[in-house]
Amino acid sequence: MADLFGDGKPPREDLAAGAVLLRGRALPAAALLEAVETVTAAAPFRHMVTPGGFEMSVAMTNCGRAGWITDRRGYRYGATDPASGRPWPAMPAAFQALAEGAAAEAGYPGFVPDACLVNRYRPGARLSLHQDRDERDYAQPIVSVSLGLPATFQFGGSRRADSVRRIALDHGDVVVWGGASRLAFHGVLALREGTHPETGAARINLTFRRAL
Ligand code: SIN
Ligand code: FE2
Repeated sequence: MADLFGDGKPPREDLAAGAVLLRGRALPAAALLEAVETVTAAAPFRHMVTPGGFEMSVAMTNCGRAGWITDRRGYRYGATDPASGRPWPAMPAAFQALAEGAAAEAGYPGFVPDACLVNRYRPGARLSLHQDRDERDYAQPIVSVSLGLPATFQFGGSRRADSVRRIALDHGDVVVWGGASRLAFHGVLALREGTHPETGAARINLTFRRAL
């Protein structure tokens, strides 16, 4: 089991205190990608605007009881999709099961997400270094699932000036961070051109959180 995928990468890697990378944990991904289709049919991807007025290069939507949004008024969670006025689509069972299982495996038993941010990166899209800090309870971890095209994930410390590691994330990889790493700065470098058999010219990221 040391080399589950024959690519020399261990299935589990500790990234920092409280932060774990579970390689291939989301495979097979067909049911997850089907659920992404269901969610985005009801709540399509859109490019949100930061409080500073910049349109994000990553397209986003949400499912679950709470959805993360940004606009000129700020960052926050809301129960409804501002584009439609309707509640966000329910969290698919396959999402819930993966998030809870991966969290438990990483050392966070009892994690029950109420929010899933769905991020779509096209080639060139990027996410600059930030902390996830709009949630109520920082004792709850973050579970982040990578699907489709590979990406370079940046993972630093709790201060912006801390050194940042670069980690190659592939289709099916899951990163869980909590505890001493809960407020770690993280980001994604500009996605490289490419086509993935299951997602086309895109990377899909599912970020699960306990928001409320
Ligand atoms: C995020 O920080 O919301 C997304 C991280 C990722 O796409 O891997
Ligand atoms: Fe984040």
